[in-house]
Amino acid sequence: MTPVSAQPDWRARHGGDLPVARLMYASQANVQGSIYAVMERIRASAVRHNEPAGVATALLYQSGWFVQWKEGAGEALLRIMHRVEADPRHHSLRIVHSSRGPRLLDGPWSTAVVHCNEAHADMAQRVDALRHELDNGRQYSPQTVWRRLSTPMRHPGAAPGAGPDAFQRVLICAAEGMGPFHLVHWLGRCQGEEVVHRRFAGAYEWDVGTDYVDFEEEGRVLRVIAMARHGLALPLTRAFIPDYSHVVLVLSGDPERDCPLFERVAQACVGQVATPTLLGLAPRASAHAGMGAMAQRCGLTYLAAECDSKDEKLQWQVLAPLLAGWQDAVNSSGWPVVPLRA
Ligand SMILES: Cc1cc2nc3c(=O)[nH]c(=O)nc-3n(C[C@H](O)[C@H](O)[C@H](O)COP(=O)(O)O)c2cc1C
Repeated sequence: MTPVSAQPDWRARHGGDLPVARLMYASQANVQGSIYAVMERIRASAVRHNEPAGVATALLYQSGWFVQWKEGAGEALLRIMHRVEADPRHHSLRIVHSSRGPRLLDGPWSTAVVHCNEAHADMAQRVDALRHELDNGRQYSPQTVWRRLSTPMRHPGAAPGAGPDAFQRVLICAAEGMGPFHLVHWLGRCQGEEVVHRRFAGAYEWDVGTDYVDFEEEGRVLRVIAMARHGLALPLTRAFIPDYSHVVLVLSGDPERDCPLFERVAQACVGQVATPTLLGLAPRASAHAGMGAMAQRCGLTYLAAECDSKDEKLQWQVLAPLLAGWQDAVNSSGWPVVPLRA
């Protein structure tokens, strides 16, 4: 298995920030048996063909649908698309995004599988809505399209008329252990909300679990997303970094573990159009030593918080006020939606 650090030069080897064609489609899956086995076979083909052609791809399977996001030189991308279109494992392809601009995916492959209790028709409705907007000349960034299709906000507390993107998104990763996942599940239990489980993978990286929960607290709707730390290297995760208001780093107090987590987060922020505020949650103040300076060197904002307990309620009591401050700041300027960089 290739180490995670093999990824970052992919963009440089394929034209850097030169504009490429960016295409997204949704299609109805026609697969028998394990979806993981099918995704694995598609990944093997795609890594073989896409990588030499400089085409980056993210593929989602959810509720009987595939959604694919592709980026690359127009001709290479079309050549691959012609082959994919003819594949009997899906049908009824519908384009939901088409633009030119800098690469947003900086690695050849990402896979996402989402487990949820929605009907095939729910996804169909979201595809139709995006198509309708596209037909009327309105188009959103690939990240926004992906989020609207795969993980739309359903919470009834989402402000009516505020738009489907008007909620705060927070990513949380730990230097060790499963703390972020326990926090998301605790939030789900005490808010009475479903936790959505997803699995991601890259071309080379290990399988990554990520869970999220949506809930309303003190007049705002939040999505808190727990992710295993090695997920930060996935091209799909990196493409979504500008979508978050904060990345919470659950620190252990041991620099041997905490610094590598910081470095993974900082690496994921390199070259982004916007970066989230980093919020370190540590067992004691000394664990933040050096983090602020490192953040400053990387041009990132770092907030320090302490909680000397693994109790989720206590942790949330510390985190919530620091996350809420952000809402006041953006209310005047609008909610962050990853801009469509053309
Ligand atoms: C939803 C979906 C997405 C696919 N994406 C790709 C892709 O990005 N690149 C690729 O080469 N093949 C992709 N495939 C597989 C191709 O359709 C085709 O089976 C494969 O490229 C054949 O190459 P091989 O015979 O070398 O495996 C995809 C198939 C499906 C069903």
